[in-house]
Amino acid sequence: MARNKSLHAANRAKQDEFYTQLPDIEKELKHYRKHFRGKTVYCNCDDPTISNFFHYFHLNFEKLGLKKLITTCYKNRQTEMFSKHDMEAAAGVEYVGNETEPTVFQLNEDGDFRNPECTELLKQADIVVTNPPFSLFREYIAQLVEYGKKFVVIGSMNAITYKEVFPLIKSGRLWLGHGPAGKDMLFDVPEDYARELVETKREGSAYKLVDNIVKGRLGNASWFTNLDHRKRHEDLILYKKYSPDEYPKYDNYDAINVNKTADIPVDFAGPMGVPISFLDKHSPDQFEIVSANDIRANANVPIKPHGLIKDKDGAIDGKPTYVRIVIRNKRIQQ
Ligand SMILES: C[S@@+](CC[C@H](N)C(=O)[O-])C[C@H]1O[C@@H](n2cnc3c(N)ncnc32)[C@H](O)[C@@H]1O
Repeated sequence: MARNKSLHAANRAKQDEFYTQLPDIEKELKHYRKHFRGKTVYCNCDDPTISNFFHYFHLNFEKLGLKKLITTCYKNRQTEMFSKHDMEAAAGVEYVGNETEPTVFQLNEDGDFRNPECTELLKQADIVVTNPPFSLFREYIAQLVEYGKKFVVIGSMNAITYKEVFPLIKSGRLWLGHGPAGKDMLFDVPEDYARELVETKREGSAYKLVDNIVKGRLGNASWFTNLDHRKRHEDLILYKKYSPDEYPKYDNYDAINVNKTADIPVDFAGPMGVPISFLDKHSPDQFEIVSANDIRANANVPIKPHGLIKDKDGAIDGKPTYVRIVIRNKRIQQ
């Protein structure tokens, strides 16, 4: 049991070393250009010698009109990776453009984003952009919210259901990036992990080969942000009409069940449970996210801190549905 646990932790730590590819960063960040003018950007989980987030902002510094770029790097214990880059301690880089050289500075602590040294840098930043360690996503987002920072970061779609994350989505303090969300994303991985993936995993699941190079795969990746973007204000075109037969109510919630986002009825004004992938199409101008706690039909259903319809609480005729977000259409058409 203990061995299983430590294997699991070791695997998670390896997954934390997934390096984002430049085309993925470019594809997403082009939707936020106007937000960056005059701003200080902080990439706080980024070895500047490897990170394409650092490269992106360094290369596009003038085009975006940035004020400053700060990058700090976690002192990784994988000595192989760091000796390759000639780094003995955790370090950071500051860049202010105007054809100057980036200034390298050493950190006294290990570069953990939670260290006071890094939180001091965080205070200077306007926007944080990175792919943080997946295993620390909850704490990572909580810190950004605590310090009132703007951000664009990568995480797994599953994070939507975390009790620390969903309330932020519901209250409009965090939403999905331009995306598309919940798709396959491929990442560069350290050489030893690439070897291990090939030896122990099946191609197509944990990794993919692209031009014979091993790329780590995250099957459910998304961008999470609190910067506004155009797609967030595009209405979803709806065409189906409500019928009680096609949209049954949950046993314990006074809401109808909608199995597919595209099937949201155009003419239904009440609460509807929709799959979490709906969030990729969510416009707050068109829909309101409702608290599942408020629409319980049965007082025995416990109030959940996250406010989602989950597991057997969301059964229909005793048969559980998948996790559901409850929404209401603000612009019904009869
Ligand atoms: C998923 S990788 C992404 C790396 C880089 N941001 C990128 O996108 O290419 C997460 C990185 O966070 C680093 N990391 C792990 N724990 C950390 C912590 N507590 N504070 C800061 N960085 C951490 C890992 O070493 C790893 O390089």
